[in-house]
Amino acid sequence: MITGKFPALRLRRNRKTDWSRRLIEENNLTPNDFILPIFLIDGKNKKQSIKSMPGVYRYTIDKLDNIVDRAIKKGIPMIALFPYTEKRKKNDLGTEALNENNLVCKALQRIKNKYKNEIGIMCDVALDPYTSHGHDGLLKNKYVLNDETIKILLDQSLLQAQMGCDVLAPSDMMDGRIGEIRKYLDKHNFKMTQILSYAVKYASSFYGPFRDAVGSKNLLKGNKKNYQMDYRNSDEAIREVALDIKEGADMVMVKPGLPYLDIIKKVKEKFKIPVMAYQVSGEYSLLENGIKNDLIDRNIILESLISFKRAGANAIVSYYADRLDQIIK
Ligand code: PBG
Repeated sequence: MITGKFPALRLRRNRKTDWSRRLIEENNLTPNDFILPIFLIDGKNKKQSIKSMPGVYRYTIDKLDNIVDRAIKKGIPMIALFPYTEKRKKNDLGTEALNENNLVCKALQRIKNKYKNEIGIMCDVALDPYTSHGHDGLLKNKYVLNDETIKILLDQSLLQAQMGCDVLAPSDMMDGRIGEIRKYLDKHNFKMTQILSYAVKYASSFYGPFRDAVGSKNLLKGNKKNYQMDYRNSDEAIREVALDIKEGADMVMVKPGLPYLDIIKKVKEKFKIPVMAYQVSGEYSLLENGIKNDLIDRNIILESLISFKRAGANAIVSYYADRLDQIIK
């Protein structure tokens, strides 16, 4: 490394003008860096606001074309579907996950038929939108059962793949599920369906607004600490990712985002695999409420998003994904 000394060396020289700053920029954002989450709701012709996430909406299936058209036009490579499930459709076992007429399946069919491979579609593999207790798997004595849950996740995965899902994203944190899902998909001839593992998912209070968005907030019994990771740890994140890669993950997710930039960086440096970061609902709500109440400038959005890239993320799941042009402006 060449170093120098003041006054011969002045690092501010390169920062003096806008063109020079642009010339030496190391990181930037393009639409390719984003995954757009979309919340689904039953019914017709509805765009419903979400109290804890100002500016984000739930859409009925008939309203999706607009959203997807716009995402494609903006060059966003992938959307992620999340269903708001009515309480009457939830039960202990989350059986609605396996209903081929559930919201996600209907949305998958509609989007896939119409748009083919113009845009990728990602779906969570987990039971939390469908269980009456709000957990990602089967609950017994306050403990989420691992192997029993995986059995259901296999069928949820296959069903979503059959309906047109391109990228299955297990977000359940059961041990061994990536390998089991990969085997099951291959056995049923879905050899090319990609798996984006939420390999590093922390038990986080930053998910609150999302749970409101999918209707599991007030139902959740206890917390998710016996399956999601402890935020005091980072070695454990490396072990999770190593296992998931071995089991067949094509890409991995780190979640939440901003408080975990150190993890994104470690994972990227160690494994050189596509790493996605999730700027989760709580991060979104914090930024958005600060801006809305005139407490802070909206440039914090761009600054936060670029920090993900600097840390090494290939792409970001963000509720701002389809508003990038306004943000950069
Ligand atoms: C469900 C799931 C969650 C999120 C994505 N998938 C919540 C949770 O695990 O409780 C959170 C996303 C967000 O907060 O934006 N397994």
